[in-house]
Amino acid sequence: MQAENEAPVSMSLSQEIKKRRTFAIIAHPDAGKTTLTEKLLLFGGAIQTAGAVKSNKIDTATKSDWMEIEKQRGISVATSVMGFEYQGVKINLLDTPGHQDFAEDTYRTLTAVDSVIMVIDCVKGVEIQTEKLMEVCRMRNTPVICFINKLDREGRDPYDLLDEVEEKLNIKVRPLSWPIGMGKGFKGVYNLYEKKLNLFTPSQRKLSDDRIIIEDLADKKLDELIGTSNANQLRDDVELIEGVYPEFDVNEYLDGKVAPVFFGSAVNNFGVNEMLDTFIRIAPTPKSRFTEEREVKPEEPKFSGFVFKIHANMDPNHRNRIAFLRICSGKFERNKPYNHVRGPKPLRFSNVTQFMAQDREIIDEAFPGDIVGLYDTGNLKIGDTLTEGENMTFKGIPSFSPEIFKEVINKDAMKTKQLEKGLRQLMEEGVAQYFSYEIGNRKVVGTVGQLQFEVIQFRLKNEYNASVEFAPMNLYKACWISSTDKKQLDEFVRSKSRHIARDKDDKLVFMAESRAWLQMVQDNYPEIEFHFTSEF
Ligand code: G4P
Repeated sequence: MQAENEAPVSMSLSQEIKKRRTFAIIAHPDAGKTTLTEKLLLFGGAIQTAGAVKSNKIDTATKSDWMEIEKQRGISVATSVMGFEYQGVKINLLDTPGHQDFAEDTYRTLTAVDSVIMVIDCVKGVEIQTEKLMEVCRMRNTPVICFINKLDREGRDPYDLLDEVEEKLNIKVRPLSWPIGMGKGFKGVYNLYEKKLNLFTPSQRKLSDDRIIIEDLADKKLDELIGTSNANQLRDDVELIEGVYPEFDVNEYLDGKVAPVFFGSAVNNFGVNEMLDTFIRIAPTPKSRFTEEREVKPEEPKFSGFVFKIHANMDPNHRNRIAFLRICSGKFERNKPYNHVRGPKPLRFSNVTQFMAQDREIIDEAFPGDIVGLYDTGNLKIGDTLTEGENMTFKGIPSFSPEIFKEVINKDAMKTKQLEKGLRQLMEEGVAQYFSYEIGNRKVVGTVGQLQFEVIQFRLKNEYNASVEFAPMNLYKACWISSTDKKQLDEFVRSKSRHIARDKDDKLVFMAESRAWLQMVQDNYPEIEFHFTSEF
């Protein structure tokens, strides 16, 4: 007998799934993420002119300028998801905030993609933000393609760069293209996979790469095209690479074990087309996802999905929000009631938007891999699951221990209710994390960066008419605690009660004051597990 979840797949659903690639570009600020995004959209015909994609970073000069931050929030809604078609493939590109203070937002966005393209600046090499983002990718074995950018500048030696990627990002690499020269002497790249030479011409307008087929590197034509010294260097390099690196194995890439590497210059639109062509060939179609209860395959006929991002409306008179839903299985339909697993009643959405390049359009249906924006009046929160009936909850949207902690000081006792409501809603949007001490009822907000405190203070005043101040706290980490031995856990909570708080989901958290102290406590309580993320 066929189980309910394995009902025959309609052709159209499986075709829709095969057509989709959902990914994000990750990079340390300034590596070229915005530039690359724009070039990809140009290829997809989604935009006509360069300069149409706005950078979503807030530069340090305007960091505390409120209007700038609000403008930035506006921009990031418009560019949160960019859908476009390329060679019959529907590409959903999810944007991630450039500013490191919004790193949590980026981590959550990464839970909604099936693969990533990582941009690395060839002058600077692997930078700190890239390392952090890669850690998140590794948690789910997300396949990674690496684009080494800015080859028109005098950068680091390509072999050094590859070694650094392997070492710092803890992933094997396999170059699929190889640069010929760099900076002023940059001649182009040789595609090792297709055995084609792509000669560099600086141009921001060019839309396709003119590739020259060189089947045999001994061919004298190569000397004519790039000069004998460059040609000989390339011959040596290719011999070395083919000797050192095993053949590219697409399955290893799909398992997140090896990252194919491309070299290019995004601003000159060079090497981008090449990478995109490979991307649509090898990048995964929407993958299965895990709920607490079971694995959910995209081909299952019944709809399911989860909310990974919530964006508040900036108009304080309308507390509408847009919830971003990743569709995991089946077909999502507008106006159909769906089971809101955490909530008291089914939800139906009449205003469903999809994001095509810079436009939002109302849509009637969407398929696995797609991201839709749902207008919501406060029912949904990050991590919520919607299904066509089944009670299950998608895993994989963890909270990470914040870096900065401050105590919330209510400045207007008459507005306590508003403050509580405001804080709750902002935390549901994932602006920051909220911890409530078991003893003394102290409320603590934890963030990745200073900027969020300004965001929270401003929005509480502006949208909820509540005044707060934040008092600095000396805390090192929030550790979610667990133990297989319930008695020991109870005992630990009792003895450390002054340092125990609850997170937004009522989970137990140990608030560690310093690294050394945490180490000591860990040594003294070997049966207690301390976790730096809320999912373990
Ligand atoms: P981000 O989103 O990752 O933060 O980076 P973004 O694309 O904004 O690029 C950061 C800077 O690097 C920009 O210069 C951009 O023009 C430049 N850039 C991107 N790709 C290349 C490349 O292939 N070669 C060179 N030489 N530069 C590149 P900017 O001066 O900050 O801004 P702009 O005034 O040029 O736009």
